[in-house]
Amino acid sequence: MQHDKILILDFGSQFTQLIARRVREAHVYCEVHPCDVSDDWVRAYAADGHLKGIILSGSHASVYEVDDRAPDAVFTLGVPVLGICYGMQTMAQQLGGKVEGSATREFGYAEVRAHGHTALLKGIADFTTPEGHGMLKVWMSHGDKVTALPPGFKVMASTPSCPIAGMADEARRFYGVQFHPEVTHTVQGRAILERFVLEICGAQPDWIMQNHIEEAVQNIRAQVGDEEVILGLSGGVDSSVAAALIHRAIGEQLTCVFVDHGLLRLHEGDMVMEMFAGKLHAKVVRVDASELFLRELAGVSDPEQKRKIIGRLFVDVFKAEAEKLKAARPGSKGAQWLAQGTIYPDVIESGGAKSKKAVTIKSHHNVGGLPEQLGLKLLEPLRDLFKDEVRELGVALGLPHDMVYRHPFPGPGLGVRILGEVKKEYAELLRRADAIFIEELRSTIEPHSGKSWYDLTSQAFAVFLPVKSVGVMGDARTYDWVVALRAVQTSDFMTADWAELPYALLKKVSSRIINEVRGINRVTYDVSSKPPATIEWE
Ligand code: XMP
Repeated sequence: MQHDKILILDFGSQFTQLIARRVREAHVYCEVHPCDVSDDWVRAYAADGHLKGIILSGSHASVYEVDDRAPDAVFTLGVPVLGICYGMQTMAQQLGGKVEGSATREFGYAEVRAHGHTALLKGIADFTTPEGHGMLKVWMSHGDKVTALPPGFKVMASTPSCPIAGMADEARRFYGVQFHPEVTHTVQGRAILERFVLEICGAQPDWIMQNHIEEAVQNIRAQVGDEEVILGLSGGVDSSVAAALIHRAIGEQLTCVFVDHGLLRLHEGDMVMEMFAGKLHAKVVRVDASELFLRELAGVSDPEQKRKIIGRLFVDVFKAEAEKLKAARPGSKGAQWLAQGTIYPDVIESGGAKSKKAVTIKSHHNVGGLPEQLGLKLLEPLRDLFKDEVRELGVALGLPHDMVYRHPFPGPGLGVRILGEVKKEYAELLRRADAIFIEELRSTIEPHSGKSWYDLTSQAFAVFLPVKSVGVMGDARTYDWVVALRAVQTSDFMTADWAELPYALLKKVSSRIINEVRGINRVTYDVSSKPPATIEWE
């Protein structure tokens, strides 16, 4: 099935992915591409007749600092165009208006007056002034501004300091806004973007995860045919959803290899097996490689070296297992495909603008290079989806809500949460402390939101510190290990605030850990934000 689509050209704003997510939330399919694609590329992209509109993103740069322009074809295809911030400025400049720099940067909350009843803003307002002007509460971040409209445009919005905060050429359906409708601080942002994609562009809202399953299943079957697929299951959300989806499509042709490196969370390995082998009846090979990993990690305390060892061993074990599977069935060709849970942000990131300033959301490709080494074709059924869509899909495929909405867990697992040298004893203590922390976060409800503290935090875990401190238990002196608790709130994991957990919760977690985990006699709470700290301790 061919979906209508919106093209988002990325000029390097940190919010570009948010634009795409807002469009997808309106159930319209969209793609992000770098701003420096060619005119021919744009025309070819539109050739199937499904391109319904184009959005030009913001940028962290000024139109004076960089020469990024939208390809001219954007303005000649006859589809509606929405320019946001820098996107509006380049639209103004390219179509014959004027942009000027300003010494002061306007940053943060602003109230914008809507003018002239444009199709984009008509009937959308946060409040009305006594004079009857519709007003929008928005979020702005810009230095330059449009100072002269291009021919054919009229003013659509203004603030006292930015007289052209929005412009429109309704005949050509070109719109520009200086503020950012994609961020949630712009109260009507979602309504404005929906108005653009659904009404002005007339795109079909047919991007629905429940329906996507059938389409994805058909695609996987068409791609794979009767060949076999191998997938590295890690217990994380992406590989789990990929496995469930591929299993739905091709059943027995899929073999999952679950490498247990011994650095997983409490009972995690058993849970993965129970879900995939037990409930879904998928073919899963569990490889207990914990002894190997611990042996190779012995004596190593440098964080980067630890990561490298874990990554290398993971690939080695996975490769050996793939060979074994093949050897076990002489005459069979074995797996021809390697499936991976690559998601759309990884795709956008690796295809950034040539000028190298596109969105950078940190991601870790733990099994990079594996398909080439194994000589396998790559199957990536989630590569069009954002994380929240992957989760929706997971639930629609019948995976448990708790599994699908779990906090992210790093590939090297507890290997980067045990500071310094990794030892089995440390991993066992840490696993139990961590499980207590997570259990209490899940069961403590914050009364105003009605949500659990687990859902109110983006990532929470315990860290093992190889430090001994003195304590007292009963009448005896103890000399035991320390754990730190870490809980953060973040939307993109690039920056994060430490979570202000209630004291009562911290108190309960601390007392349970010290009482229940013999070997730990001190618990601390990490109150560092990122930056300058990172989320993980290593
Ligand atoms: P930092 O510590 O850099 O973490 O603030 C940001 C996010 O990335 C995760 N992380 C990793 N994930 N392999 C992974 O798969 C890694 O080596 C790794 N290091 C950090 C971290 O858990 C957080 O979500």
